[in-house]
Amino acid sequence: MNPVRIGLLGLGTVGRGTVTVLRRNQDDITRRAGRGIEIRMAAARNLAKAQNFASDIEIVADPFKVVDHPDIDIVVEVMGGIEPTRELILRALRSGKHVVTANKALLAEHGNEIFEVAQETGGMVAFEAAVAGGIPIIKTLREGLTANRIEWIAGIINGTSNFILSQMRSDGKTFDDVLRMAQDLGYAEADPTFDIEGVDAAHKLTIMAAIAFGMPMHFESVYTEGISQLTGKDIQYAEELGYRIKLLGITRRTSEGVELRVHPTLIPAKRLMANVEGVMNAVLVKADALGATLLCGPGAGSEPTASAVVADLVDVTRMHTADPEHRVPHLAFQPKYLCEVPILSMDQVRTAYYLRLSVYDRPGVLADITRILADLEVSIEAMLQKEPSASAQWVDIVMLTHMTVEKRINAAIVRMEALESISGKITRIRMESLDQD
Ligand code: HSE
Repeated sequence: MNPVRIGLLGLGTVGRGTVTVLRRNQDDITRRAGRGIEIRMAAARNLAKAQNFASDIEIVADPFKVVDHPDIDIVVEVMGGIEPTRELILRALRSGKHVVTANKALLAEHGNEIFEVAQETGGMVAFEAAVAGGIPIIKTLREGLTANRIEWIAGIINGTSNFILSQMRSDGKTFDDVLRMAQDLGYAEADPTFDIEGVDAAHKLTIMAAIAFGMPMHFESVYTEGISQLTGKDIQYAEELGYRIKLLGITRRTSEGVELRVHPTLIPAKRLMANVEGVMNAVLVKADALGATLLCGPGAGSEPTASAVVADLVDVTRMHTADPEHRVPHLAFQPKYLCEVPILSMDQVRTAYYLRLSVYDRPGVLADITRILADLEVSIEAMLQKEPSASAQWVDIVMLTHMTVEKRINAAIVRMEALESISGKITRIRMESLDQD
């Protein structure tokens, strides 16, 4: 059988990794796919550099030339961005091609439209590389767990943030220094605010929630809070209390609706997830029949991401000639059974909290604080008061609460901040036990 012909959009970190992995493992990949996979042409911004890297591939500057080329069977989109990428993918589908993409932003924001068009054209859109780099989480959620009712997912799904938090904790490095290191190592997004402000994680969470719960993409409803406001002090206090701070993407099905949230989270240091350090990603899935399962691995980088792209290429190659009705649905559930579910606002979310307050060191202050918490039925689980230095009048108090509704914590914070004995803003970080029962 003739090889399947690929048109590559982008020859950056992931594009190059894809070429390298396909070349190096060509024999095994062909034996698995049942036919060869050949990169027929590629679109790149720097033609000379691209030609130098892949002299056997036809390189063009205009990505539309790849998408419109009649010899291309599958378009691999690893150029990123929203436009013209959205237009390129829709055009590829409308001209009868299949698509493999690593573009989480595009899928989270325009996936509903893209999958609808794919449905009409009978095209496949594969996107394993869009979530957690090389970790096969899409395949796991979509195929491996089809017997289960998925209850919740909690993931470290942004390598750059995890790298920054790990280095701040272990080496006491500053936020800015570590961010620069992550950029030099090629982990960060073109716009690093996507990494540190939780937007990249929110894109990935949107995709996982859609597949886990059979609902359309709802990126606009994800509560997103990044790590840029975290201080070394909070990382250290959390450690003293037996916790680590991770940027988590969490989605949970409750009787009232689905939670969709990305924020820094204290998790017990004894959990496997707490020990996932550096650029590594990890996704913990709680499903009713299986229980909890943790997938961990590189969430970024050239060859790890290429591993997911090439796995998709093999899948699409195998299913290329199959009747669209017999393929695995894009979002795990048959399109006609996808349904809207209420998405909970943060006010409605139930979780536990870490609070850090700077208080005036005098009698009765703690009583004022605990009265406010008691009035709002917030129960304290642990407390730490730092010894003041000889000259200081203000001391840090750290409290961990039991589970409560976020609305109550917010009300308590407003009342506590109004006390004269409290200085400045109260730091509030959410806390999850990741209890697997
Ligand atoms: N910038 C992403 C991260 C990599 O740091 O995890 C690809 O999603």
